[in-house]
Amino acid sequence: MSRCWRTSRATAALAVGILLALPAAADAADDRMSRVLGEALFERAWVPAPSSTKANDGLGPLFNARACVSCHVGLVRAPTRVGADGVVTGETLVLRLSDAAGRPDPAYGTQIQTAAVPGFAPDGLVRRTREGFAPHALARGPLAATTRTGGRIAPALRGLGRLEAVPDALLAAAADPDDADGDGISGRFVGRFGHKAQARDLAEMTAIAFATDLGMSTTRRPAPEGDCPDPACRAAPHGGDAQTPEIADEIVALVAAYLAAVPPPPAPEPDPVGAALFAQAGCAACHVPALPTPDGPVRAYTNLLVHDLGPGLDGGATEPGIAPTEWRTAPLWGLSRALADGAGLLHDGRAATVAEAIAAHGGEAARARAAFDGLAAEDRERLLAFVERL
Ligand code: HEC
Ligand code: HEC
Repeated sequence: MSRCWRTSRATAALAVGILLALPAAADAADDRMSRVLGEALFERAWVPAPSSTKANDGLGPLFNARACVSCHVGLVRAPTRVGADGVVTGETLVLRLSDAAGRPDPAYGTQIQTAAVPGFAPDGLVRRTREGFAPHALARGPLAATTRTGGRIAPALRGLGRLEAVPDALLAAAADPDDADGDGISGRFVGRFGHKAQARDLAEMTAIAFATDLGMSTTRRPAPEGDCPDPACRAAPHGGDAQTPEIADEIVALVAAYLAAVPPPPAPEPDPVGAALFAQAGCAACHVPALPTPDGPVRAYTNLLVHDLGPGLDGGATEPGIAPTEWRTAPLWGLSRALADGAGLLHDGRAATVAEAIAAHGGEAARARAAFDGLAAEDRERLLAFVERL
């Protein structure tokens, strides 16, 4: 009797254990399944509507590529490809459009789309010029006189979930918009993702990408015609309407969850001397080596704040509420990979080396650039080597 009682108690304990463990196991399996689905959606080549596979369609009418992965191959930054005539041939650099206040061009919207559904003209092409990048062979007449243009490259998409985990309150507290501490560096907390920190989180950046790069609508960006204010666009074929977006919220969430789970780039062995010089020159005031999160520090070398880097880094086009010269402090982790792959530095890839990137820093970073220039030659080399290995 007593043995029987002990057995049944042990069995009950086991059953409770299984019951307690099951939801966790189910959650973990769910997470894995979500990531697999998210990755498949990130790699999916979308097709124009109407198609026989309704779930895949809605691409365009204007777009830059058919899949997220086209511009984010291997989730790393790629070199910008340019033909002999100066025309950009790859997809990874986009030409953004806006007036000085971030308002889109009335005919072309926020970005030049270089591809379109059959029977509809793409916006045009992008050409590299001495000053940067410019539109070429435009299909819908000239840009508005107030429209400014600027190239932006596709960044690496690694460790973004770790950046998302940095508490908002911490970033808001680190901001110093009026430079109250008088160090010449202000810094504003706007958002986390995009060169201009224009997106608050990965789901928002994903919705922006669907709208501008693929021409697909979401709840957050409901216009079915995508980035195309031209009336002809609204009449062109597309897969949704204002009530039913082409891309369901679940798809946005799955893609965002997949990206959030991609681990950060590998961290190098630290060089304390290089790190000290980096801090001494004032680089670390913006490229903060580590930010705290509930799961430990994230060593991305950014404060995620937006800084004015002066007229030399006027990006032409901008976003509402962000000056053309303002940029989110670029995370420096993964820089060694970008350099090894020959991908350019800064928002439009204009700098081939770390030294060139530093030389372009002005505005709030002018003091740090001067401090770098003032270092002894061997210390400059040591600092550069430190950054190049990140
Ligand atoms: C035509 C090329 C292209 C395609 C297609 C594309 N992207 Fe991007 N992606 C870019 C560029 C360029 C940027 C930088 C945009 C900016 O800052 O204005 C970017 C930025 C991002 C960022 C921000 C990264 C950071 O460090 O802040 C995320 C996240 C992202 N893309 C996800 C996606 C997803 C998800 C898709 C598919 C739905 C996608 N992208 C499709 C070119 C592309
Ligand atoms: C006031 C803030 C600030 C300071 C100080 C600063 N930077 Fe930056 N840095 C930025 C911002 C913002 C960007 C992005 C600019 C762009 O994309 O055009 C950037 C971009 C870079 C890049 C290019 C990264 C990439 O992914 O392409 C490098 C390299 C860099 N900084 C190194 C340094 C070094 C070294 C120092 C010190 C000498 C320094 N920075 C000081 C704000 C700062």
